[in-house]
Amino acid sequence: MNKEEFFMKYKNQRTFVLIKPDGVQRWLIGEILQHFEKKVLKIVAMKMIQAKEETIRAHYPMTDEAWLTRLGGKSLSGFDGLDINPKDFLWTDDALTIGKQVAESLIEYMLSGPCVIMVIEGLQAVEMVRKIVGHTLPNKADMGTIRADYSIDTPLIANVEARSIHNMIHASEIPEEAEQEIRLWFGEDANFLKYTRTDEKVAYAPDQRL
Ligand code: CMP
Repeated sequence: MNKEEFFMKYKNQRTFVLIKPDGVQRWLIGEILQHFEKKVLKIVAMKMIQAKEETIRAHYPMTDEAWLTRLGGKSLSGFDGLDINPKDFLWTDDALTIGKQVAESLIEYMLSGPCVIMVIEGLQAVEMVRKIVGHTLPNKADMGTIRADYSIDTPLIANVEARSIHNMIHASEIPEEAEQEIRLWFGEDANFLKYTRTDEKVAYAPDQRL
């Protein structure tokens, strides 16, 4: 690996972030962007869009039964330790069937208003952005993360209300997924801006005596 490839892989790594309709409608765009900007992460592309159903179906692995079963399993786990039979509220305790229902409600939620999509670049951006975003389920996210700071939604309440969890934001999980998602949402030959933030010069400057 040469130096340029090293910088692309680690220092200028790119990730995909999407502010979901609840984040936009709750006027949280600015607050969310600040979380990234303050970490010296650079926004190199950003658009407000109305997502298309086909893009959402391509974004989430909607036909992958293992993924759907995990999604349903997360819903069932919300009932753990409670004196409630999931069947009384979800009409089934089959994780795959529940996963399919959650997936359909996820599409409704993602179509319910505009989203903001962006590409963020920076030092190990994929992992860093995921840390800033926090756990998928806001009730399990660490304090200080975006999902914990602005929500306390839980799968238990969401599923009984037959809706998706409103967790305001999506961020790619691994670098390969980031590349796929950037291509899916921005197109195959999207060009991203190159510019230098003033604080970058200080945050990563060589040490020099004044
Ligand atoms: P995200 O992490 O973008 O990917 C899957 C989405 O499905 C997740 O955000 C939530 O919006 C939603 N979701 C995940 N688990 C559940 C669940 N158990 N019940 C309802 N919605 C869920």
